[in-house]
Amino acid sequence: MARKDNQTKREIKMLKTTLSDMLGIQYPIVQGGMAPWATERLCVAVSNAGALGLISSIGVGMPQAAPVALADDPNWKDKSPYELLRAVLQWATKQTAEKQGIFGVNIPLAEEFGEVVEGLLKASIDARKENEDTANRLKVIVTSAGNPAPWARLIKDSGALWFHVVPSVAHALKAEQAGADLVIASGREGGGHVAFEPVHSMVLLPAVVNAISLPVVAAGGFCDGSTLAAALSMGAVGIQMGTRFIATEDGDFPEIWRQKILTSNERGSHVGISVFGPARYLKNKISQQLHELYNKGFLEGYKEGTRIEGHGMRQLSTSTDPDECVFLGGEVAGRIEQLPTVSALIEEISNEAETVIRRLPKLVTEA
Ligand SMILES: Cc1cc2nc3c(=O)[nH]c(=O)nc-3n(C[C@H](O)[C@H](O)[C@H](O)COP(=O)(O)O)c2cc1C
Repeated sequence: MARKDNQTKREIKMLKTTLSDMLGIQYPIVQGGMAPWATERLCVAVSNAGALGLISSIGVGMPQAAPVALADDPNWKDKSPYELLRAVLQWATKQTAEKQGIFGVNIPLAEEFGEVVEGLLKASIDARKENEDTANRLKVIVTSAGNPAPWARLIKDSGALWFHVVPSVAHALKAEQAGADLVIASGREGGGHVAFEPVHSMVLLPAVVNAISLPVVAAGGFCDGSTLAAALSMGAVGIQMGTRFIATEDGDFPEIWRQKILTSNERGSHVGISVFGPARYLKNKISQQLHELYNKGFLEGYKEGTRIEGHGMRQLSTSTDPDECVFLGGEVAGRIEQLPTVSALIEEISNEAETVIRRLPKLVTEA
């Protein structure tokens, strides 16, 4: 009986935002796409914990290793990105069935990916058509890193919700015009790909919230309850996190990467050349080369930079030397000190945000 009372209390205390209402999830938290990893285990863990997990489609299409979903298939390498992604999405549907977890798929639209983009979009849409459970729980397609307009009809006709990631007000307006249902405003402090022109979350988020009438999720620099509360106070309906989710016990990322996050400080990242634009890396010998090449000029350094980046990525699965690898990661690595389980992390963030939000009204006093 006491347990039931506690549960009821928890339900009453729950944070509720437009994001949780749109998706039917418990926590207004999104796990960002993180190719070139497929983020299969992470997506399932996040979804089963009551937040929104994403399968990173480009990571499935260009896997470092066999997708978890196809671990028993010796011929997985012969399959097209379309077939691989469909199999992964059906696997994620099964893995999240018991808890009725809600999940999505991230599809970067960069021109460099050519026809693969259309294949990945169609795979996601077909996976929903093939299986009622998938249609009910693969609720959202999150596009990023490219022009959303050419894909609008295909995505809107699919019946899935459509979120698009943007680095500026101008891009947010384009996403709204294209018909997106929600925009994810991604600040320059975030890990992975960033825009050429830097705008960080503290300026970007309220500017995007003011400029469009769609709901906005904040990304870049979020890792705990106080930053979630800050995002909500600036008008966001939730947060998307990348780096914080890498440093968890039950994700997909190698130990060497998680340890790199734990040992970084707040000045421990910088921007360097990456395959389809600049990206934020955790600092080491290799990232220093990518950073210097970027400062000399993106186009001039592109060929050498992407060669170095590719080498550093391959080292991640075998090397024990953190200076031999490249680690995409955000400034927020400097604020991360523990490797919790995904569900403990999500619950802690939500509890802390609630505490902060309840404390704030006390700052307002009658004159
Ligand atoms: C390793 C890594 C890979 C990423 N790959 C993608 C990707 O494939 N697609 C995408 O939209 N964003 C990608 N991102 C960005 C994240 O989805 C997220 O928006 C970002 O990490 C948020 O900033 P934070 O690292 O401060 O939490 C990546 C980030 C990291 C750290």
